[in-house]
Formats: sequence, C-alpha cells, structure tokens
Amino acid sequence: MLTEKLPRVPLAHLPTPLEPLPRLSEKLGVELWIKRDDQTGLAGGGNKTRKLEFLIAAAKAAHADTVITGGAPQSNHCRQTAAAAAKSGLRAVLVLAGEPEPASGNILLDTLLGAELVWAGNRPRDAVMAETVAAQKAAGHTPYLIPYGGSNFIGASAYVAAVEELAQQTATRNLPPFDRILFASSSGGTHAGLALGVAALNLPTQVLGISVDKPEVELTDEIVGTLATETARQLGLPHRFSGENIFADDGYMGLGYGVMGNTEREAITLFARTEGILLDPVYTGRAAAGLLDLIRRGKIAAGERILFWHTGGFPALFAPKYAAKLAAENRQ
Ligand SMILES: Cc1ncc(COP(=O)(O)O)c(C=O)c1O
Repeated sequence: MLTEKLPRVPLAHLPTPLEPLPRLSEKLGVELWIKRDDQTGLAGGGNKTRKLEFLIAAAKAAHADTVITGGAPQSNHCRQTAAAAAKSGLRAVLVLAGEPEPASGNILLDTLLGAELVWAGNRPRDAVMAETVAAQKAAGHTPYLIPYGGSNFIGASAYVAAVEELAQQTATRNLPPFDRILFASSSGGTHAGLALGVAALNLPTQVLGISVDKPEVELTDEIVGTLATETARQLGLPHRFSGENIFADDGYMGLGYGVMGNTEREAITLFARTEGILLDPVYTGRAAAGLLDLIRRGKIAAGERILFWHTGGFPALFAPKYAAKLAAENRQ
C-alpha cells in the first residue's frame, strides 16, 4: 500500500463497485464503466468519505474533540464530515457560505447528523473558518481544521489508495486498463490523488478532471499540480506534477458553480433513465455533461474504454432550487 504510513480509520464501504454501463455504452459508442464512489456508504456516500478515513485519523492523532470544515450550503463534503464526526465520536462545526438557508438536501442531513452550522454571510470563508477555530478553542474544545473539500495531502492520499483499489479490481477480473478516467474536479484532492496513483502504478490511463468551477490552468498548474507533488513528497514517491502532466477540461463550467443548466439536466436524466444511476446537479452532472460532449465532438474516440468515477452528491437533488428545475423539465 502506497499510503500505509498514514493513520486511517475505517468509514467507507470499500472496495466500491466497479461496473460496466452496457446500455449507456451502446448509446454513446464507447466502452463505459463506472466506479461507484457514490456508494461509499456513509450517510449518502461520496468521494469525501475516502478522504475522511485519513483526515479523521489525523484529527484523532491530534487529540481533537471537534472537526471544523467549510463549504457551499449544499456541500457534500460538509455532510460527509458531519457523518464521519458522528461515527467517530467527534463534534462537527460546518462553516457554510452565504445567508442561512432552509434545511433541505445536504443541509437537512448536516443538522440530522448533529453538526453545528455557522453561516458566513458574505464574509471571506477563510476568515470565518479562522474565527470559528478561535471560538471553539475559547469554548474549551480542541478543534481540528479540515480544509475546504478535504483537499490537502492527507485527503488526496485517499485517492492514491483508491487507484490501488481499482488496479486490484481490474487485475482480479482480468480487465485491460482504461484509456481514461473522467470525473468532477473542484478543490483538487480527488484529482491529485488519482493522478499520483495512476503515475505511481504506471497505468497507461489519462486522468481527466472536468473542472466544476476553475479555469484549466489554475486547476492543473496551481492547485492539482502543487497538491499532487506535495502528496508524492509526503508519501515518499518520486513523482512531480505540473500543467504538463495534469489534465483538465474547463469547457463545462456553464453559468458558474452550483448553477445547473440544460447540459447537466440532460446528463442527469440520461444516466437515471438508461442505467438507474443518480448523478448530482453540481459535480457529477457537470462531469457527465462533459463526457457526453467530448464523445459527441469526437474528442473521446469511438470505442475508448472510459471509467466514469462517480463521486456522489445525490442529496443535493433534493434542494428546492435543483428539485424544482428537474421536476419541471421531466414532467411527463
Ligand atoms: C459530488 C462531488 N464530486 C466531486 C467533488 C470534487 O472533489 P474535489 O473537491 O476533491 O475536487 C466534490 C467536492 O465537493 C463533490 O461533492
């Protein structure tokens, strides 16, 4: 195991299923597979549960009694952190952007899971996170700060381990390697871990992040390149990364973060009706919209073996702003 030096607590149902998508493959003219990290099992699952196995272990090693993290109001990362904290006997304090919103979708689950919510209003989230850490200390707690998206080398290491899990699954089933792994990339931890894992195992697979909210060069050079290099250093691996060997496509950001457009709606509906798979309106819906477009434009060639890495997020479907649009669009 490349990550064996790092402490880890079991939180996720692993390995997540690796499944072919025969009906979608036939429709799209590629050989499409899916890695079901929407099925990591913790309170709705998702990619952050893998990261939290390492991050909660780090919080415990630091003798914390409270974890603090932040995100958008419908953050899947915050919901999974709340669940991981509950399961580990820790308190969770979540700093959410903007003004208080009704308890729907992930926010409802955050409150059910017992997290304390701090609404940041229009103040910079880093300042509010720092203030929240200070307030928790002043109240006698020992907080551990989990970065936005769980994206530091500790969180990214989980996706190095995930590539090892994938390699084992393909070896056991005698499957040839994938030409590409395609997934939603935002704070970069998933992307960095996948890129490093694929490089460390020497797989002939392109790791292609569909950018949810950042211009390509910022995502590849600054965020993912830096984080993948740091993760390699921390794990004692020789690999170094930059925009040269980190791949992303920023052509699908639409009207911005969290704005579900026609392309995401089309992808969500297609996956649901063809394979019974629920995508989410913010991340995986956008990544799948990218996948569909890249295939239609021939940027992904006919017959390619593609692994769509599902990173979760379905609770956001139930937030009124998304549910209302999806219901209106899909009325029969
Ligand atoms: C469902 C889903 N997919 C993808 C991502 C992006 O992962 P990362 O932040 O590691 O880039 C997130 C992050 O919040 C997410 O919730």
